[in-house]
Amino acid sequence: MFQNNYAKLSLFSNQKHEMSVMNDELKVNPMEIINQYYPVGSKVHFILVKHSEQVRDKALSVAKKHPELNLDTQFITEAAMLHDIGIFYCEAPRIHCHGTHQYIEHGYMGADLLRTFNLPKHALVCERHTGVGLSLEMIEISKLPLPQRDMIPLSLEEQVICYADKFYSKTQLDEAHPIDRIRKYLGRYGENEVRKFDEWHTQFE
Ligand SMILES: [Fe+2]
Repeated sequence: MFQNNYAKLSLFSNQKHEMSVMNDELKVNPMEIINQYYPVGSKVHFILVKHSEQVRDKALSVAKKHPELNLDTQFITEAAMLHDIGIFYCEAPRIHCHGTHQYIEHGYMGADLLRTFNLPKHALVCERHTGVGLSLEMIEISKLPLPQRDMIPLSLEEQVICYADKFYSKTQLDEAHPIDRIRKYLGRYGENEVRKFDEWHTQFE
């Protein structure tokens, strides 16, 4: 499976090289990367871009509300748009993704993809945004199909994007989830998840 996906990616190797050179000199253009893997005009492109914009705008609203946090808004703008870039690898027909991997893998697979663009910091946002983050212990105990390492958002920007992502789903694009619903959802995974979200809510709202 991996071979197929990576073979597919190699088709874009020339474009990627140009882009990584560009990134050293200019800001990252997330739409250029998205458009390479999601056909413009397709349903999945619409869903991904809309969701990512919602998460970006929520994260930027936190930055605006909290200047004392000194958040890197340029980075948030780029990384929020790219945080779900890995969904096309996964099987999630409801959002028009027809890959071969389990949905939970989209984080680290998107991260691996962004590393090929020489975007290691953006990559960490991808692999650390599932739930409120996944510890190595959780990955091991639940036998998740993920690399064996902590995937917990550490930088403030990683935390704000992970927090903002909890308000939006790709299957229901119209409005933000109420807090109660987010807490209930996270509660299925454990009390610590809800506690972490509550801490973020206090800090970021
Ligand atoms: Fe997301």
